[in-house]
Amino acid sequence: MATTTESVSNGGGPVHEDKGETLRPDDLSEMLAAGTKDVHEKAENTQFVKDFLRGRIRRELFKLGAVALYYTYTAMEEEIEINKDHPHFAPLYFPSELHRHEALARDLEYFYGPEWKREISCSPATQRYVDRIHQVGQEYPALLVAHAYTRYMGDLSGGQVLKKVAQRALKLPPTGEGVEFYQFDAIDSAKAFKQLYRSRMNELELDAETKSSLVDEAVKAFQFNMEVFEELEEIGKTFQEEVSEDGMPIHGDTGGDISKCPYYASKMAASGGMAYACQLAMAILRHPTGQVLIATWFAVLAGLVAWYLM
Ligand code: HEM
Repeated sequence: MATTTESVSNGGGPVHEDKGETLRPDDLSEMLAAGTKDVHEKAENTQFVKDFLRGRIRRELFKLGAVALYYTYTAMEEEIEINKDHPHFAPLYFPSELHRHEALARDLEYFYGPEWKREISCSPATQRYVDRIHQVGQEYPALLVAHAYTRYMGDLSGGQVLKKVAQRALKLPPTGEGVEFYQFDAIDSAKAFKQLYRSRMNELELDAETKSSLVDEAVKAFQFNMEVFEELEEIGKTFQEEVSEDGMPIHGDTGGDISKCPYYASKMAASGGMAYACQLAMAILRHPTGQVLIATWFAVLAGLVAWYLM
């Protein structure tokens, strides 16, 4: 379904062009853009985001990113549904245009298969973000605007670029499987929709104090996102470390004991213990030290058998 100025699901009013209008500094859209400028720049400069933009993203890490988004959007859209008639949120309720829960579920099914729900779990940083979204939805519904703004406006701003990067880096089909999250089928012009969204934010009847709390909450939302990126970045390092260039598993900080890695348990649960055991065995077999150890072990075993038979 295409979004036109007449067919938006919410209100259907004409797209309210910001262009040509004098925006006031106390317009919520202006306050949010100005108040999150610094933290936006920080988010752009996180290693995970920079690597992603350069196409340096592994499939496993991309999948975990999609899992984090799934939990985040599930929480946000649950709270949005509950608060859809709240006067401080209702004008921003655009489920058919914006909501990402279903698209993310399809992406996860593509990556993890039909049993995807049993394969995924919520990471600690994502859980903190999710907890805050629920708290806001239940205790300060007006602040939900900050969470919706941070995610949806960001998605509409970079979606197409990120989709192309992911498709190229992960060799995903051009038909869009695995990257449905980035595809807003019900929005024809992201630019026009963002203008509509900004004008709706500016029409909310909020006092100065609430507007300022909203800016603070948006800064927090960016920080939650950065914490998720940083967590993914750390997990990415363990993927790289586990199989080094010559294929031998190593794990620097934990002194070689991978079971001490905080992500090990969830990764084992997510990828299946057997698969990991096979990967480990293959890595040991490929490595010269592993081959010497196995040969020694067989020699000792043969010696014992010979001694027993004598
Ligand atoms: C390298 C990474 C990023 C780049 C290059 C980038 C770039 C941009 C650009 C160019 C815009 C302006 C679009 C427009 O006005 O039409 C924008 C807007 C926005 N971005 Fe990002 N962004 C990045 C990461 C993020 C992240 C990680 C988030 C939050 C999780 C985010 C949230 C937003 C939001 C909320 C807006 C709307 C600003 C406004 O108009 O009020 N961005 N971004």
